[in-house]
Amino acid sequence: MKTCIYPGSFDPVTNGHIDIIHRSSMLCDKLIVAVGNNINKKYSFSLEERVELLNIALKDCPYIEVAGFSGLLADFVREKGVRIIIKGLRAVSDFEYEFQMALLNKKLNPNIETLFMMSNVNYTYLSSSAVKELARNGGDIGGLVPDCIKDKVYEKFRMGI
Ligand code: COA
Repeated sequence: MKTCIYPGSFDPVTNGHIDIIHRSSMLCDKLIVAVGNNINKKYSFSLEERVELLNIALKDCPYIEVAGFSGLLADFVREKGVRIIIKGLRAVSDFEYEFQMALLNKKLNPNIETLFMMSNVNYTYLSSSAVKELARNGGDIGGLVPDCIKDKVYEKFRMGI
């Protein structure tokens, strides 16, 4: 069974992430969406909340598992017995950082292959920070995050729309 891992912060998950998740799940038998918890990073949503939002958004996808992890991605990948990491690239500006991460992960675990998927042209401008900025200021996040999590995102910023 071919399993791939799609890691990220998902703070919160956006339709850009969902697009990569659905397209990459078609390339494998099982996709693990790995939600990172870096103690040096300040998240708006807790790890539990980020996992919950993804589970809500992906509730009809039996071959997709959502799992939180702390520590190194290379260790999580090894624990899961997986070799392939999928990452999305929105623009050239993503490349340098992702290239460095892919090489570091390869150094830590030579079995890992990182595959890059080009983001859907409709979402190249999208980021979790942009969604949070809009929600915090009462902007419309319709079409930017899955409809089923929209209220929960607004709720976080006390903007029930
Ligand atoms: N659509 C929309 N937005 C996208 C996107 C897409 N297809 N792809 C990326 N993004 C955005 C995210 O929303 C996020 O936006 P933000 O900065 O506004 O929050 C940004 O791009 C970064 O995304 P992400 O892929 O989640 O990267 P990250 O830098 O937060 O990394 C991990 C998350 C978990 C992959 C990373 O921290 C990690 O590997 N941690 C483990 C520690 C480790 O092993 N480090 C490497 C060795 S030192």
